[in-house]
Amino acid sequence: MKVFTVILAVCLSVLVLSSSVSAGGPNYKRICYYTNWGQYRPKLGKFLPEDIDPTLCTHIIYAFGMLKHNKLKAFEWNDETKPWRVGMFDRVIALKKKNPALKVLLAVGGWTAGTKEMGKMLASAANRTAFTKQAISFLRTRKFDGLDLDFEFPGSRGSRRNDKFRFTLLCKGLKNAFIQEAAKRKLDRLLLTAAVSAAPKTIRRAYQVRNIARYLDFINLMAYDFHGAWDNRTGHNAPLFRRKKERGYKAQLNLSYAARFWKWFGCPPSKLIIGLGVYARGFRLKYADYYYGMNSQTVGASDAALYTQEKGFVAYYEICRMLYGKRKKKKKLARYWNKEQKVPYLVYGDQWYGYDDETSLAWKVYWLKKGGYGGWMVWSLDMDDFRGKFCNKGRYPLITAMNRMLLS
Ligand SMILES: *[C@@H]1O[C@H](CO)[C@@H](O)[C@H](O)[C@H]1NC(C)=O
Ligand SMILES: *[C@@H]1O[C@H](CO)[C@@H](O)[C@H](O)[C@H]1NC(C)=O
Ligand SMILES: *[C@@H]1O[C@H](CO)[C@@H](O)[C@H](O)[C@H]1NC(C)=O
Repeated sequence: MKVFTVILAVCLSVLVLSSSVSAGGPNYKRICYYTNWGQYRPKLGKFLPEDIDPTLCTHIIYAFGMLKHNKLKAFEWNDETKPWRVGMFDRVIALKKKNPALKVLLAVGGWTAGTKEMGKMLASAANRTAFTKQAISFLRTRKFDGLDLDFEFPGSRGSRRNDKFRFTLLCKGLKNAFIQEAAKRKLDRLLLTAAVSAAPKTIRRAYQVRNIARYLDFINLMAYDFHGAWDNRTGHNAPLFRRKKERGYKAQLNLSYAARFWKWFGCPPSKLIIGLGVYARGFRLKYADYYYGMNSQTVGASDAALYTQEKGFVAYYEICRMLYGKRKKKKKLARYWNKEQKVPYLVYGDQWYGYDDETSLAWKVYWLKKGGYGGWMVWSLDMDDFRGKFCNKGRYPLITAMNRMLLS
C-alpha cells in the first residue's frame, strides 16, 4: 500500500509538471449520467434533480427516454412538465441557470429496454427517418441539447446481424438532419453521442467503429460491468488492467484493452470518453473463510443493500456505509488492493464487492490523460456520496476527485 502510494504520488507529480507545460491542455469532457429512477430509492438514497451539483460536469445525460414505434418518448410518469407540475426533464434542464455552459442530453435505450424496438426502427430507411424527424422536434420542444444513443446492443441480444450497418446509417441520418435543422433555424446544432460496449465480442458485432466515430460528437465507453455475479467467480467491475493469470477472452476484459480496441478500429481517442463507475458489483462467497481474493468461487450475487435494493449492485456511498458506518454484527471487514488491476475490493463477511475509490480513479484518470482520451464519463450521479453523509469527505467525493485529477 505504501509503495503504491509513493508510485502514485510520483506519477501524479509528473502529470502535474507535464500538463503545466502544455498550457491549458485539451478541453476535457466530463459527462455525468442522471437516472430517472433514482427518485424511487428510500430515504437518503432518494435522488432528485436538485441533488445534482451542476458545476461537476460539462454535460449531463438524462437516462432514459424510450423508443416506441419509431418515436422518442418519456419513460417515467413525471419526466414531462404538466400544468400542475414541473417535470423531471425541466428540473434537470433548469440546472443550466447555475451553470450556463452545461449541456443536457437525453439518452434513449438502456440495458432493460432490450433491442426489439431498436430493431424495428433500424429496419427500414423510412423508419429511421421517421425517428430522426420526431426526435428533433421532441428534443427541441423540451430544450435538450442533444441525443445519446444507448441501444444495448446492435447485433446482440436478439438484434439482427445487419443492425450493425443500419446503426451506422442511423448515426449518419441523425447527424445530417441535426446539421440541416441547425442551419435552417439558426440554432446551435443538437449533439449526437452514443454509449457503447467495452466488451470486444460485442463491439465486433455492434459497430462500424470508424464510420460511427465520424458522425458522433463523442462516444461514451461503458468501461464497467466487466465482471459481476453472472460469472460465478469474483472479479472486479472495472479493472484498469488484466491479471496475469487471466487467460483467453477473460484477459480482454479490462479498461485499457477496451479503449485501445476502439482506437485500433478507428475511433480518434479525443472522441472517446472513458466511462468510470462509482458503484460496485457484488457477490456472495462460497468459502468466505478461505477464498476471498480475485477469482474465488461464489454462490450468486451479494445481498441487496439498504438504498439501492438490488442484488449484486451497490452504490459507492453504501460501500462507505460499510467501511465507516456502525456495524452491529461482528462480521469480518477488510479492504484489499489488487496491484495488477489497480482496483480495490471489499470483503464483508461472505459478501465481496469490486468497487472504485479515489485511488483507483486516480490511476484511471492519469491513464486516460496519458492516452489522449477526451475525458471521463461517470455512471452515475446518484451512486457517489451525493449528500456527503457516508464517506466523511463532503458531497460527491469521487466525482470531485475525478475533476481535481483531470483538471490539475
Ligand atoms: C417500421 O416500424 C413499424 C413500427 O414500429 C414496424 O411495425 C415495422 O415493422 C417497421 N418496418 C420494418 C420494415 O420493419
Ligand atoms: C453460473 O452458474 C449457473 C448455475 O449453476 C450456470 O447456469 C451458469 O452457466 C454459470 N455461469 C458461468 C459463466 O459459468
Ligand atoms: C488487457 O487485456 C489485453 C488482452 O488480454 C492484454 O493484452 C493487455 O495486456 C491488458 N491490458 C493491460 C495494460 O494490462
